[in-house]
Amino acid sequence: TQRTLVLLKPDAVRRSQVGEIVRRIEAKGYALVALELRTATPELLAEHYAEHEGKPFYQPLVDFMLSGPLVAIVLEGERSIEGFRSLAGTTDPTGAAPGTIRGDLGRDWGLAVQQNLVHGSDSEESAAREIGIWFPNL
Ligand code: GTP
Ligand code: MG
Repeated sequence: TQRTLVLLKPDAVRRSQVGEIVRRIEAKGYALVALELRTATPELLAEHYAEHEGKPFYQPLVDFMLSGPLVAIVLEGERSIEGFRSLAGTTDPTGAAPGTIRGDLGRDWGLAVQQNLVHGSDSEESAAREIGIWFPNL
């Protein structure tokens, strides 16, 4: 069994999609190990998005992630890292498949690609690292 870090980004909270997204996670069969409404900090995001530092979208992404509260979640389940990313759909909501969180709930009219509702760890290494950042006591 695997743990993964999921963030429901500030757009998900602003648009009242938290319940809908958590419903999809639970329907898929994953267990909630931790779930907290949080406001990120620049320090937390610098660690979380270290791999993107220096890219052109880095600062807009960080500013967006600081724009309101988000929901930080740790999920547990068989192959939950791959499974959640499959639930989420591709990064850009415009091309994300119908049936996925981003494909069904994402908006593209005039919004930048960073407003794509969710984050999910992309490997076991990332999951361990990101869970340590957001939930150091787990
Ligand atoms: P996450 O689950 O959020 O990590 O998404 P991902 O793994 O599909 O994407 P990636 O890790 O490559 O990028 C992290 C986040 O940066 C994405 O979710 C987007 O919010 C944002 N992002 C990635 N690429 C771009 C880009 O080309 N332009 C903009 N504006 N944002 C981007
Ligand atoms: Mg990523």
